[in-house]
Amino acid sequence: MTQQLSPQHPNIPRRAVVTGVAGFIGSHLAHALSQAGTTVIGVDRRDPATDPTAAANLAQLRSFPGYVHVTADLIGCAIEPLLIDADAVFHLAGIPGVRPSWGPKFTDYVASNIIATKRLLDAAARQGVPRLVVASSSSVYGATDGSHSTESDHPRPVSPYAVTKLAEEQLCLAHAAQLHNPTNVVALRYFTVYGPRQRTDMFTHRALLAALTGQPLRLYGDGHQRRDFTYISDAVSATIAAATTPKAGGVINVGGGANASLLEVIGIASSLAGRDIDLHHESPRHGDVHITRAHPGRAHEVLGWKPQVDLPTGMRSHMEFLASEAAVYGRAA
Ligand code: NAD
Ligand code: UGA
Repeated sequence: MTQQLSPQHPNIPRRAVVTGVAGFIGSHLAHALSQAGTTVIGVDRRDPATDPTAAANLAQLRSFPGYVHVTADLIGCAIEPLLIDADAVFHLAGIPGVRPSWGPKFTDYVASNIIATKRLLDAAARQGVPRLVVASSSSVYGATDGSHSTESDHPRPVSPYAVTKLAEEQLCLAHAAQLHNPTNVVALRYFTVYGPRQRTDMFTHRALLAALTGQPLRLYGDGHQRRDFTYISDAVSATIAAATTPKAGGVINVGGGANASLLEVIGIASSLAGRDIDLHHESPRHGDVHITRAHPGRAHEVLGWKPQVDLPTGMRSHMEFLASEAAVYGRAA
């Protein structure tokens, strides 16, 4: 279920920078752009020579002749040379994950999500980059009453991670609003993205793995939490549209507007694998919101975007990937 983009698409960037390229979303995005004929400069601080996850995520990408890989940390590296002649920058680099953000890693969240983003924005303005697409997060909405979250809702983040993502997107928008700033910004609030190569700390990955292997699954809370799960190819198509739609700007939700509970995800994983999942119940985690649900109107109106992959179909692809990965690497995660 890879992205289908026409190489002749008039608006596909000729040259683009993808930060966080060794990660889950960044690697898929860079692959789709490369397939469409874009020259991609992929930047990540994880070195594929020493980091097996980065190596696996980048494996297919590196066969594209137009793909250039740079191992660099945006907190300290020279950014401007990476941006020369870029039509678009896709800023996916960052420290994700809600739960660890309460701990000592918070300084890393601040450094990568805020300080590094500020450096990138300054460099993009100096290089005259016309469009920057930045990864924001559904978590910025915080606790809701379960109705659709609209971009104009007042954000009330309830985790340190979400606070850094809100700071990150607002920093980008503040830069874009500066008089004479050449860089237009689109901040995408992704809603819980899943699919092949999903981070191993995330629930869908863990539920599918538990179903495949019989290992126990830790369930934080009662499982009635709901997420607007977004399949990776849909997240990628929204991200590319955010760079190629001429008048796009501001904040846009990337979520379809439906949601499912963790218990429903467990049910789908069990039926796909034909095995019951052994649940280990644990207390709810601080900062986890109960429900997310995107209002998808702006994504549709501005980007012409509608998700194409429903949860059972996406989870099937995700499970097939994990099953083949386990076979190839002989490992469970
Ligand atoms: P990921 O951890 O798989 O990828 C992020 C990548 O960024 C990693 O490879 C990491 O090494 C790199 N990185 C971090 N700090 C860096 C730095 N200072 N310099 C260079 N590289 C750096 O995460 P992901 O799930 O692919 O998420 C990508 C982005 O999308 C993140 O900003 C995350 O906050 C955001 N997001 C993700 C989801 C989701 O469901 N996965 C939802 C909402 C928002
Ligand atoms: C996910 C990503 O991890 C964040 O980086 C991203 O910013 C966010 O989506 C977003 O949409 O903005 P989250 O929705 O919390 O965050 O997704 P998971 O990490 O997969 O957690 C989903 C739910 O499963 C949470 O309630 C969590 O407590 C629960 N969970 C997670 C478990 O019960 N067990 C686990 O082992 C892992």
